[in-house]
Amino acid sequence: MHPENRVTVAAAEPARPAAGGPTASAAALSAALGVTGYLAGEQVARAAFLAVRMGRPLFCEGEPGTGKTALAQALAQVLDAELIRLQCHEGIDASQALYDWDFPRQLLHLRSLEAAAGTGQERLDAGEVEASLYDRRFLLARPILRALQSTPSVLLIDEIDRADDEFEAFLLEVLSENAVTIPELGEVRAVTPPLVVLTSNRTREVHDALKRRCLYLWLDHPDVTREVEILRTRLPGLPERLAEQVAAAVHELRDMELIKPPGVAESLDWARALLLVEATRLDLDSAAATLGAVLKYREDAERALQAMRSFLP
Ligand SMILES: Nc1ncnc2c1ncn2[C@@H]1O[C@H](COP(=O)(O)OP(=O)(O)OP(=O)(O)O)[C@@H](O)[C@H]1O
Ligand SMILES: [Mg+2]
Repeated sequence: MHPENRVTVAAAEPARPAAGGPTASAAALSAALGVTGYLAGEQVARAAFLAVRMGRPLFCEGEPGTGKTALAQALAQVLDAELIRLQCHEGIDASQALYDWDFPRQLLHLRSLEAAAGTGQERLDAGEVEASLYDRRFLLARPILRALQSTPSVLLIDEIDRADDEFEAFLLEVLSENAVTIPELGEVRAVTPPLVVLTSNRTREVHDALKRRCLYLWLDHPDVTREVEILRTRLPGLPERLAEQVAAAVHELRDMELIKPPGVAESLDWARALLLVEATRLDLDSAAATLGAVLKYREDAERALQAMRSFLP
């Protein structure tokens, strides 16, 4: 079925707790994210602020390693909420995302009922037996159900572009309702709807119907100044000069149209590797010794080593 046909009427948007503290303004949220070690630019802070205050999912799209997953983690810390992560993959379905029944335990339960009936201790009524099999204790709550049940929570739906269309349509329903119906148990509705953060590396386009439910944020690689700040925040022992050299070199590499341009994760790994080999500066020797931390294709490494001759001592 086409996802648009499956949209259920959205419940009134839940207003998030009003002003005060880290969600009072985009600037306050940015400062609070900074305390957790996440350095949000103005645009990121504003999008996250609106998502929190409007109670809308935040759809974060961007190149690998631009801080999409880390943003959700930092938001959970700021909101003092449990972070619940649903990692998407090809073929993911509702039973992995929402709930499943613990079949082995149900079977054991059935066996013990049969055994009790066999010894004449209990009489079995088929209806009661069936009902007892679908008891809450046999329910395996998967991330989305857990997020609806825990208050407050941040639900990270990571790498949605890896899932398929049917799964998107299913998500759309859940996000519209902030509730799910388990046929055997009834409706589970979130007391406080989770803050939902979806991420995508844009390996394919996510359907408009899902995007329409969300606030959209494109995350770019940080500029050199911010990347230096991120490096120094995440690695407090990193000398400023080395941080500047790594950030500058990574920016050169990103302009080279490599097979896999380095993200912030690779800059951090590069800096860590340089610290471990006790490099005091980034030069051709220390770069060559640590390049495996930043580039992951032989062709990229060869091209980079060649190009670095022009900008590294
Ligand atoms: N603005 C930032 N402030 C602090 N740390 C950051 C920032 N952006 C990225 N990082 C760090 O860079 C690393 C990579 O970030 P993250 O895993 O969130 O990227 P991603 O966009 O989810 O990548 P992928 O698409 O590969 O999953 C993490 O260690 C994260 O903490
Ligand atoms: Mg990620």
